[in-house]
Amino acid sequence: MASVTINAEVLPQPNTTGGKPLMQVMNQRASSRDYKQGMTVSKQDLSNMLWAAWGITHDGKHTVATAMNRQELILYVVTPTEVSRYNPEANTLTTVNTGDYRKFSTMQDFAAIAPINIVLVVDTSKQERPEFQGYTAGAASQNIYLYCAQAGLKSVVRAGFDRENLPKALKLSANERILFVQTVGK
Ligand SMILES: Cc1cc2nc3c(=O)[nH]c(=O)nc-3n(C[C@H](O)[C@H](O)[C@H](O)COP(=O)(O)O)c2cc1C
Repeated sequence: MASVTINAEVLPQPNTTGGKPLMQVMNQRASSRDYKQGMTVSKQDLSNMLWAAWGITHDGKHTVATAMNRQELILYVVTPTEVSRYNPEANTLTTVNTGDYRKFSTMQDFAAIAPINIVLVVDTSKQERPEFQGYTAGAASQNIYLYCAQAGLKSVVRAGFDRENLPKALKLSANERILFVQTVGK
């Protein structure tokens, strides 16, 4: 998909040092389905969690391993006001649609009131094997869970979403496939 560079919001620089000890955070990782209406997630937390999921580390690599370094993951962020696409190289979010599309990101009511739903999409033209796609999205999902556990945020990864309307809300191209949606909030 040709990426649009207008309306690209620069995120705060992700904080890639510190945090709670990893072993403690793994012990606290859990799924939550209890979100309060109207709560927000800070731009700093959003930047940090997107970096944890799929940020650039060193040598052009990401926080997550990909088979044959195909780097097939794309993250979309669904908020109460828009859908945007994460560009990890530029640390930006580019608006792809405006409006509240959270209801399409879920079959469960709780996610439609949560402030953030991160859609884990793979570019099938970069990686066609489903098990490799699933590894990549799953590893990114775990990193989101761990970031949330250490930041005091709630999260749950979900395979339940509106398979007809969510791809349209994200304006996906034919080679882009949604694997999971991860809800984040308080
Ligand atoms: C691939 C996958 C799909 C899932 N889909 C959903 C879902 O659609 N809705 C939901 O509420 N939870 C979903 N979950 C969350 C699981 O129900 C949850 O991880 C499980 O109950 C274990 O709880 P825990 O994450 O707190 O350890 C999914 C988890 C995985 C790994």
